[in-house]
Amino acid sequence: MSEKTYPSINDLTLEEKASLTSGGDAWHLQGVEAKGIPGYMITDGPHGLRKSNSATTGEVDLNNCVPATCFPPAAGLSSSWNPELIHQVGEAMAEECIQEKVAVILGPGVNIKRNPLGGRCFEYWSEDPYLAGHEAVGIVAGVQSKGVGTSLKHFAANNQETDRLRISANISQRALREIYFPAFEHIVKEAQPWTIMCAYNCINGVHAAQDHWLLTDVLRDEWGFQGIVMSDWGADHDRVASLNAGLNLEMPPSYTDDQIVYAARDGRIQPAQLDRMAQGMIDLVNKTRAAMSIEGYRFDIEAHDEVAHRAAIESMVLLKNDDAILPVANDAKVTVIGEFARTPRYQGGGSSHITPTKMTSFLDTLTERGVDAKFAPGFTLDLEPADPALEAEAVDAAKGADVVLMFLGLPEAAESEGFDRETLDMPAKQIALLEAVAAENKNVVVVLSNGSVVTVAPWAKNAKGILESWLLGQSGGPALADVLFGKVSPSGKLAQTIPFDINDDPSTINWPGEEGHVDYGEGVFVGYRYYDTYNKAVDYPFGFGLSYATFEVSDVKA
Ligand code: GLC
Repeated sequence: MSEKTYPSINDLTLEEKASLTSGGDAWHLQGVEAKGIPGYMITDGPHGLRKSNSATTGEVDLNNCVPATCFPPAAGLSSSWNPELIHQVGEAMAEECIQEKVAVILGPGVNIKRNPLGGRCFEYWSEDPYLAGHEAVGIVAGVQSKGVGTSLKHFAANNQETDRLRISANISQRALREIYFPAFEHIVKEAQPWTIMCAYNCINGVHAAQDHWLLTDVLRDEWGFQGIVMSDWGADHDRVASLNAGLNLEMPPSYTDDQIVYAARDGRIQPAQLDRMAQGMIDLVNKTRAAMSIEGYRFDIEAHDEVAHRAAIESMVLLKNDDAILPVANDAKVTVIGEFARTPRYQGGGSSHITPTKMTSFLDTLTERGVDAKFAPGFTLDLEPADPALEAEAVDAAKGADVVLMFLGLPEAAESEGFDRETLDMPAKQIALLEAVAAENKNVVVVLSNGSVVTVAPWAKNAKGILESWLLGQSGGPALADVLFGKVSPSGKLAQTIPFDINDDPSTINWPGEEGHVDYGEGVFVGYRYYDTYNKAVDYPFGFGLSYATFEVSDVKA
């Protein structure tokens, strides 16, 4: 590894300093080749590496990226309550970045799940900032332990997709300090992420990218953040104002470095501020140089898949297990219903989407393990009306089975980055199918695949067992078989409340805002903080999760 060190900021011209504060293209730093500063690659994502395969680095075909291990998105991993496991996921992600020469992986996302309708709830950790911070810190520490950088995002209060590029989140200081900042603050103080990505939205009327109070007063002066701040893609609307506020890096580039040069020359940018922002970029390249200089490294695909497998197992939350219907006996006569069993929904839509190194559906797993089971898709994964023929086929397949495993949930069309959901309910055609199958056979277990909460109360009476499996990444099929057939016990605990109805959630009254504003009128009363404080009943509370063990407490003396 070369001992070459980077130049002092004083060896750079004004133009070179300005060039460091904007990307080279959508997925690379600009670097200054003449001074030995490479333009390393940076790219998504929060639960695995998404590196574009396309020749031009500006485009990304989300369905054609370099194969990488797809770990469970945060919605699942957050149910593990296992920081050590999460750290291992981070380490594995870093090894894949080293192989692919990616200096910074753009994640984790720690925005609070303010309302379960949020389109990126699958990508975020919890309604609770303490849990979100104490779990996601494992990704940052794990990745950076290997010399690769992370980008803690999206700072701050990016809690919805509706109008995300411009909406102003109007939040009290108390709610910011107690709910929307703590996960970022904890991770900055505990793990010093090498980069932070600022959010698209405004906070109290000021764009995050040019909010000096946010990016300098709070983040650096109060919390001691030592890394760089990059914009979300397209979130920098005024390069001079943003750089003065504390934004080191505009992504993607708008090819307007001359604006910085002119502003420096006419005093709108102080030399010390430009030096500070450019020095941060030199420091980032310095931190990642060793890892980016490793040649010929290949990560262990099977070992990483095993980490994904363990993470998937610990992501599942057992909500209901009447008559101990689970685990399924190995000699049971099993019927599997639901397209998700054949076509798994294992990750979220949008910038975090990965091309997995392998993918095994639940059905494929049963075949591999020699488990004989009837299968009927029951419904299509679009939002079209029910197909009576598919329903009839499924009800017929349920006849005489000892256990019917019904794979239900949200198709990709129902939730993704880029839009919020309109309803918390599962698609009506799936609920109708469940009712028809349960009328034929009472021994039904529902396995849910969803990135954010769905209401369970409307249909729970039709199922003896309910396993919330969120989105499980590439190894969800084998992990589900391990849990459903009792090789391992489910251990996940809810990181997000499941309400009886979306209108029980206090943030709904101000969701998703209007005319460019969303008022966080519920203040600090987000999720369980509301339900517990005001003694409101919920379907399944934050922290809930059953296992196959039974417990008896006796002779307790207080
Ligand atoms: C997206 C996302 C951000 C992602 C970035 C690059 O709009 O908000 O999370 O890292 O752009 O894909």
